[in-house]
Amino acid sequence: MCGIFGYCSFLIEKDRKYVCDVLCNGLARLEYRGYDSAGIGIDGDTPGSPMLLFKEVGKVAALRKHIAEAVPYPPPSDGPNGAVNGNSAKVDMSKVFLSQTSMAHTRWATHGVPSPLNCHPHVSDALTEFSMVHNGIITNYKELKVVLLKRGYTFHTDTDTEAVAVLCKYVWDSQPAKRLNFTELVKTVIKELEGSFAFVFKSTHFPDEIVAARRGSPLLIGVKTDRKLKVDFVDVELPTNEDRVNDADANALLAVPSAVSDGRSAAGPKLRRSQSRAFLSEDGMPQPIEFFVASDASAVVEHTKRVLYLEDDDIAHIAEGELHIHRLRRDDTVSSVRAIEHLEIELAEIMKGQYDHFMQKEIYEQPESVVNTMRGRVNFDSRAVMLGGLKAYLPVIRRGRRLLFVACGTSFHSCIAARPVFEELTDIPVAVELASDFLDRRTPVFRDDVAIFVSQSGETADTILAMRYCLERGALCLGVVNAVGSTLSRETHSGVHINAGPEIGVASTKAYTSQYVALVMIAVQLSDDSISKTARRQQIIDGLHDIPAQIRKVLAMDKALQQLAKDMLAKEKSLLIMGRGYQYATCLEGALKIKEVSYMHSEGILAGELKHGPLALVDEHLPVIFIMTRDSLYPKVQSALAQVTARKGRPIIICNEDDDNVPNNAKVIRVPQTVDCLQGLINVIPLQLLSYHLAIMNGVDVDFPRNLAKSVTTE
Ligand code: F6R
Repeated sequence: MCGIFGYCSFLIEKDRKYVCDVLCNGLARLEYRGYDSAGIGIDGDTPGSPMLLFKEVGKVAALRKHIAEAVPYPPPSDGPNGAVNGNSAKVDMSKVFLSQTSMAHTRWATHGVPSPLNCHPHVSDALTEFSMVHNGIITNYKELKVVLLKRGYTFHTDTDTEAVAVLCKYVWDSQPAKRLNFTELVKTVIKELEGSFAFVFKSTHFPDEIVAARRGSPLLIGVKTDRKLKVDFVDVELPTNEDRVNDADANALLAVPSAVSDGRSAAGPKLRRSQSRAFLSEDGMPQPIEFFVASDASAVVEHTKRVLYLEDDDIAHIAEGELHIHRLRRDDTVSSVRAIEHLEIELAEIMKGQYDHFMQKEIYEQPESVVNTMRGRVNFDSRAVMLGGLKAYLPVIRRGRRLLFVACGTSFHSCIAARPVFEELTDIPVAVELASDFLDRRTPVFRDDVAIFVSQSGETADTILAMRYCLERGALCLGVVNAVGSTLSRETHSGVHINAGPEIGVASTKAYTSQYVALVMIAVQLSDDSISKTARRQQIIDGLHDIPAQIRKVLAMDKALQQLAKDMLAKEKSLLIMGRGYQYATCLEGALKIKEVSYMHSEGILAGELKHGPLALVDEHLPVIFIMTRDSLYPKVQSALAQVTARKGRPIIICNEDDDNVPNNAKVIRVPQTVDCLQGLINVIPLQLLSYHLAIMNGVDVDFPRNLAKSVTTE
């Protein structure tokens, strides 16, 4: 679970300092994916000379300082693959290159503690013959290491990634004539790998070239050039000429060969060299061009909006200003076309603007983000919902044996929040599953199941694996995803983008409310064939209309909530959040927010379970937040409150604005009332704000809480 970034420029004069800045800026955008350490690898002085590495524990800011000193990190120096120690003297940062390739990485540690040694890029040897950055986990790295150790290769880090770098060298060393090109070498290597990866490879044997590959971890390539792109099949042998792809206007399609270019296996005529260029100027002359390889679009959007998403088992080769895409093996189920897409996000959207932290900004964006989720889909005049992605599937969903919601963390909570309204409106049995547990149990899944995968990033490994598990069993798989172009949104049969905009803060806030709204919309649309549910549907749609203004009203209470956090919670060790029915999800989500950003222990408790254990925790010291907004379960929550006050507990009550039934001595947070099944959208806002203020009071780096990463791309 890391962020990777690669930068290549051709026929453009850039000095080292410029290249380092591009790399660090790219990393800074990817920092939400992990920030245990950061490192870059740039070209040495002459083609084929060892790469220069800069590595630092901690965040990109620390790496920038280290780079400013211009003293690179020395590569390993013992053993047969590390006989010579490389560069540790000060380097000339003003040295200009006409063409160069480079790579960068921000790490969330999985194998090995955060340390300069375990920091990427990893290299095969002291001469950095092969170097790489990696996001994912190589599960068979121990076996690979055993084999390589037996052959005399040495290892210097605790990482799984190093095994791949050394394997590259082994493959290279074992073919004395050295006839493999860079792509073929990488292909040979990754055929040996198990697990998940997105890689950028560099080699001193192939100066000015980069190979990128993915399986299970996201990777895209941004292209920046003034010239018109001519796109053609890449250096492959084509089965037939009919497979050629033509794009009439911008030549914006890149075809992927349906046969690999290993020179042995393919049938059909071989392309002439002139046809093999992926990007070619109209006069056939090389032109200035830059490529950006990244784990996600936020890292490239400041340079270019033209991106191409790689698919699993794609291998991208960048050399001589050209991009060629190969497939690891022939697979007729994978499209042979990669479109160059135009990114819709603006850089401003991923900047903090007037706010101190992304989390704060994202909490405040919710009146707009929920509108964006509904935009063009909810007609408030005719009181109807139309989600285009689901339209064709409605009959299948309605006939489904069960709705199976699968997600992790906050996304799981949004499923819990929406479960009652699905049950009520659709009359279809609903199961809500944590993706990891769902897989652990190898839960039975049937062809007539409808599985809905909810994820902000669309890259959460457990959720993706659960989706593939359901796909294999023939279930209809739908995604409710924020990140467009993510693995989940591409691999599900269909689904709904929640359109909340980029969420950068590690703690999910606006994605939660948008997921919640999207799920409610799905439930409403699914039931629009039921006349008996018309009044209820209309009530919900009217409620959705007012939600943005009501969220705004709660946000206006921010100062009072900050004071409450200071007076009642900041010094506490522990906190319970209690509610039931529709508000159970709010309790879970509020408790998760508080624990992950303020490090204060907090637990969301179903009020119906109070007597079955948690009551033992209650005393005059323990703060307990009660979610007691009005719905059919209001009397039951009142009785739980009475049990807590009888034991001298210290309640903080979230109730509706006009509620007179709250004890005089209790601290009260008054929120606007909405339809019962939407009330959680309002009630969660004060909890998000409390968690934010508690985090600040506890001195936590709110956007980067310790040990966490935004996108959990490993199991
Ligand atoms: C908590 C949080 C995580 C994520 C979880 C799933 O604030 O952000 O619990 O919700 O890791 O992530 P996605 O939604 O990207 O699948």
